[in-house]
Amino acid sequence: MKKTYLNALIALCALALFTTPSIANDPTDKIRAIAEEITEMRSNLAKTFVKDNSTITEETFQNVCGAVGKRVNELTEKEALIIRHVSAKNRNPKNTPTAEEAAFIFTFEGDKSLKRYRDAIEKNGVTYNRFIAPIYIEQACLACHGEKKARPEFIATKYPNDKAYGFKTGDLRGIIIVLAPKAK
Ligand code: HEC
Repeated sequence: MKKTYLNALIALCALALFTTPSIANDPTDKIRAIAEEITEMRSNLAKTFVKDNSTITEETFQNVCGAVGKRVNELTEKEALIIRHVSAKNRNPKNTPTAEEAAFIFTFEGDKSLKRYRDAIEKNGVTYNRFIAPIYIEQACLACHGEKKARPEFIATKYPNDKAYGFKTGDLRGIIIVLAPKAK
């Protein structure tokens, strides 16, 4: 009896193994996984480090959007990727959208059911697979992206041209764009 169970379990595991789609083999799925990893990472960190009664400091930022920035640098150094976070209401001016990126933000803003967009583009003579996804505001983001007056002190000081406040839960915060060179 026990052995039958064991065999059934082994068969199930083998089935799961063979039917799991291989992310690494499809370059478009790989950049999708990267984009999702980054957005989920930010969401999880915000939930972990922003608690109702906690004081929000620059250290909190280092653990949330700061940690995301580090992960992006790590990924772009390791692989030939280009990763951008852009928002019309940006905090860091380097995240100002180009005209084309602004058009994508407009599209995602207009259709909240749109989960992703992918295509291939040419940039400086290189063909890239491109993946774009929306980033939404959650409760935990409001500590730093909510009301202007409620922003932690360091934000007002460090980002004199800050536009990334005044958001509400469910608002489109911006988009993430991941580019990976297409294999020849
Ligand atoms: C503890 C404060 C803090 C929290 C909480 C926080 N952020 Fe941020 N966020 C910042 C700061 C500061 C920056 C600017 C980083 C830089 O200099 O590049 C930023 C930048 C960003 C950017 C890059 C675009 C821009 O405006 O420059 C996005 C996208 C973003 N945050 C989304 C979110 C989302 C979504 C959440 C919640 C899941 C969140 N943030 C939570 C402080 C925070």
